[in-house]
Amino acid sequence: MSNTSILLFFFFLVTVSANVCDDLREKEEEINGCGKGWKRFQRPSGGWCIKVFFEELLTQAEAEKRCQAEKATLTGFQNQTEVFHVTTTATTHLKPATGSLWVGLKRNQKCLKLKITKNCTTMNTFDWTDKFTTGTHGFIWNGGEPLNYGWNQDCVVLTVGNTGYVETLFQVGTFDDVGCEMTYKNSARAIKGFVCGKKSEK
Ligand SMILES: *[C@@H]1O[C@H](CO)[C@@H](O)[C@H](O)[C@H]1NC(C)=O
Ligand SMILES: *[C@@H]1O[C@H](CO)[C@@H](O)[C@H](O)[C@H]1NC(C)=O
Repeated sequence: MSNTSILLFFFFLVTVSANVCDDLREKEEEINGCGKGWKRFQRPSGGWCIKVFFEELLTQAEAEKRCQAEKATLTGFQNQTEVFHVTTTATTHLKPATGSLWVGLKRNQKCLKLKITKNCTTMNTFDWTDKFTTGTHGFIWNGGEPLNYGWNQDCVVLTVGNTGYVETLFQVGTFDDVGCEMTYKNSARAIKGFVCGKKSEK
């Protein structure tokens, strides 16, 4: 073969194998019942699909609406594996920026306007809002949180980034309770997106 035909053959191989990879990924996404770009987690209660969306400076309510437009809802986390997946995905996407993502946790009625007390503990003060996540293994709180600073921190963000800690205090891959309207504009903790979840179709 001439040099040119070797080169052409090489490009042919690269193109074919890239297409095969794309096809495989699409097949897998079709089969797992989650759709393109969603990651499936096999929970005890069934398949759950999670996807991180990147859009800056939304409030929690706006983020919830965005998820609903995807036929999903802000997601809960069954355990640390799921939190780790989302943290890694977001950190890679945002690098070198850091920030916060809205997740599906809300302070419950009995613990509104309260700090951590005997009855309102780190494990029962917040409820998963997606109506699918169960248990407390997914409560990966930053040290000292939830604090309910100002008595109005009824929503929760996940801190993401490649720095270990953001603004000294907020450990990457952990939750912090914040006001539902906070966007942390112009800060290293700025809202950078949100995490949706939905039941898998299979
Ligand atoms: C965490 O939950 C996932 C399902 O989302 C499961 O596949 C995994 O085995 C669990 N990991 C641990 C450490 O419990
Ligand atoms: C805490 O819970 C116990 C048992 O449900 C209840 O009797 C008590 O009044 C609660 N205390 C406060 C401060 O709400």
